[in-house]
Amino acid sequence: MNPGRRLVMAVISVVLLLAALHHCDGTLRFASYYGDHMVLQKSPQRAVLWGYGPEGEQVTVYLTGPVPQKVSSPPVTEGIWRVTLEPVDAGGPYNVQAESESSKCNLTDVLFGDIWLCGGQSNMYFKTSQIFNASEELALSSKYPHVRPFMASLNMSKTERIDLIQVEIPWSVPTTSVLAEFSAVCWLFGRYMYDTLKYPIGLVESCWGGTPVEAWSSSRALKQCGLQQSGDGSMMDNTVLWNAMIHPFLNMTIYGAIWYQGEANAEYHKDKYNCSFPAMINDWRMAFHQGSGQQTALDFPFGFVQLSTYKNNSIDDGFPDIRWHQTADVGFVPNSRMKNTFMAVALDLPDKTSPYGTIHPRDKQDVALRLTLGARAVAYGETDTPFQGPFPKQILPIQMSIIITYNQAVSVTSSKNMFEIFCSEKNVSCEPKSFWFPAAIVDWNQTSIQLSAAPCPVSKVAALRYAWRDWPCEFKACPVYDASGNLPAPPFITNRYTANQNIWKST
Ligand SMILES: *[C@@H]1O[C@H](CO)[C@@H](O)[C@H](O)[C@H]1NC(C)=O
Ligand SMILES: *[C@@H]1O[C@H](CO)[C@@H](O)[C@H](O)[C@H]1NC(C)=O
Ligand SMILES: *[C@@H]1O[C@H](CO)[C@@H](O)[C@H](O)[C@H]1NC(C)=O
Ligand SMILES: *[C@@H]1O[C@H](CO)[C@@H](O)[C@H](O)[C@H]1NC(C)=O
Ligand SMILES: *[C@@H]1O[C@H](CO)[C@@H](O)[C@H](O)[C@H]1NC(C)=O
Ligand SMILES: *[C@@H]1O[C@H](CO)[C@@H](O)[C@H](O)[C@H]1NC(C)=O
Ligand SMILES: *[C@@H]1O[C@H](CO)[C@@H](O)[C@H](O)[C@H]1NC(C)=O
Ligand SMILES: *[C@@H]1O[C@H](CO)[C@@H](O)[C@H](O)[C@H]1NC(C)=O
Repeated sequence: MNPGRRLVMAVISVVLLLAALHHCDGTLRFASYYGDHMVLQKSPQRAVLWGYGPEGEQVTVYLTGPVPQKVSSPPVTEGIWRVTLEPVDAGGPYNVQAESESSKCNLTDVLFGDIWLCGGQSNMYFKTSQIFNASEELALSSKYPHVRPFMASLNMSKTERIDLIQVEIPWSVPTTSVLAEFSAVCWLFGRYMYDTLKYPIGLVESCWGGTPVEAWSSSRALKQCGLQQSGDGSMMDNTVLWNAMIHPFLNMTIYGAIWYQGEANAEYHKDKYNCSFPAMINDWRMAFHQGSGQQTALDFPFGFVQLSTYKNNSIDDGFPDIRWHQTADVGFVPNSRMKNTFMAVALDLPDKTSPYGTIHPRDKQDVALRLTLGARAVAYGETDTPFQGPFPKQILPIQMSIIITYNQAVSVTSSKNMFEIFCSEKNVSCEPKSFWFPAAIVDWNQTSIQLSAAPCPVSKVAALRYAWRDWPCEFKACPVYDASGNLPAPPFITNRYTANQNIWKST
């Protein structure tokens, strides 16, 4: 066979393979991330379906299953058709058949439920086969046939793509072998949400280890934070993963997103993260809303994991600073700069002996559980589900002490010196480091903690911070939790002279 003919044969077999995968005859196709066993967004939102087809032909989509419907697209333009379904209640299974004058294409075993996009770097990529109790977790896969994973390949692009370059894991009914390769945080989140919601959950994993927030952001979002176009052709470059791994999904209707990232920014544009992270969230929201024809909510819920631990030393501020910036310097979410967000605090889940390095703690169950609590409260409106650890409501320097009153009942599990005061007469920013002193917990009750200010006279206490360490405590042994003991207090830093909300009281 001559090389030209061989090439033609190869191209033909790829086309046939693609057609077979999508049960298509002719040239009609669905976009890469529509497939058998998928989950489409349920009512009240409308699912968007799109794909490729013969120019000028009209495409009709027949949904067959519990509540059938038929929707037609305008004529195929520039090779693309698109339909928006009428809202479909949770459930299934459905068949989705797309038909043009000259060809047909089918998806089978399609469910309707909520779609969650799972993004970030290596701790989101971290596989279910790598976590503690992995074999027990994998063995549960058969009990959750309605939680369906999908994973995008790790690809980058200099330009915004309309479709994925490659699919890593097509939509699947979960099996041990599929889950072994799938994100643990994403899977566990979906499985725990299913336990609560009892209807299908679609999980879309699109993440890449070692990548900074800039790679996942559009140039529009970066510009808001004064971040320039830059790049040397790697997956760390501005916008390259937004272009290849997020932008293609904009036209699919989703319910929300979860995110585990920030390690790669601990030494890279760290001081901008309080801008770049909220800007990325809001830009994704705007773009998904627009791409789906207003079907994805403009303020869709966005959950994230506050960084866990990496280095057990006291000098590195990278992780503490990023944790703070993850909340837009407020300390907790949601807040006025980060609306409709929720956060899983993870600084008390270190893993000293992780074979994947301490930066990859293996307890992803607690991470996902805390995310689930946030989702239930923020994304699903369960107003009485606790999801935030205690946060100071008032700080009162008095006599030789500082009394912190929390916004909820606390349990103090250790009196380890995790509080520190900045001792200075002057109204200054909290530098240099040598001005920070440990402030011991001397007493506490249900809602307050009393710290000793000694040796600093309280009049000189200029700032207070908590758990401002990369690795503040041993496993689940930080000093302050909520009353149940399950939700750790997030770290905070507050300057007496610049704090808002009148948190500092004087006597
Ligand atoms: C699509 O499904 C319909 C009904 O389920 C079936 O009649 C048809 O043959 C299928 N077409 C293809 C191309 O698989
Ligand atoms: C896309 O990613 C896959 C898997 O990582 C890789 O095999 C493939 O070469 C990539 N394609 C491009 C065009 O980068
Ligand atoms: C972000 O953090 C930097 C460094 O701590 C600070 O200078 C800046 O004012 C903060 N910006 C915002 C928007 O919070
Ligand atoms: C996706 O949505 C955007 C914005 O509405 C639109 O410009 C684009 O053509 C759509 N792409 C497809 C493939 O439907
Ligand atoms: C961290 O380092 C401190 C001081 O070197 C040591 O006392 C502590 O046991 C270490 N903790 C862990 C989790 O390794
Ligand atoms: C692993 O399983 C053991 C025994 O059931 C349990 O005590 C432990 O909490 C589990 N670990 C995680 C991280 O879930
Ligand atoms: C806890 O201690 C603070 C400070 O001493 C006090 O003002 C408050 O009334 C106490 N609360 C309870 C519930 O005992
Ligand atoms: C402290 O300094 C900040 C700006 O650096 C200023 O806004 C604030 O009013 C000052 N507070 C006092 C009590 O002097």
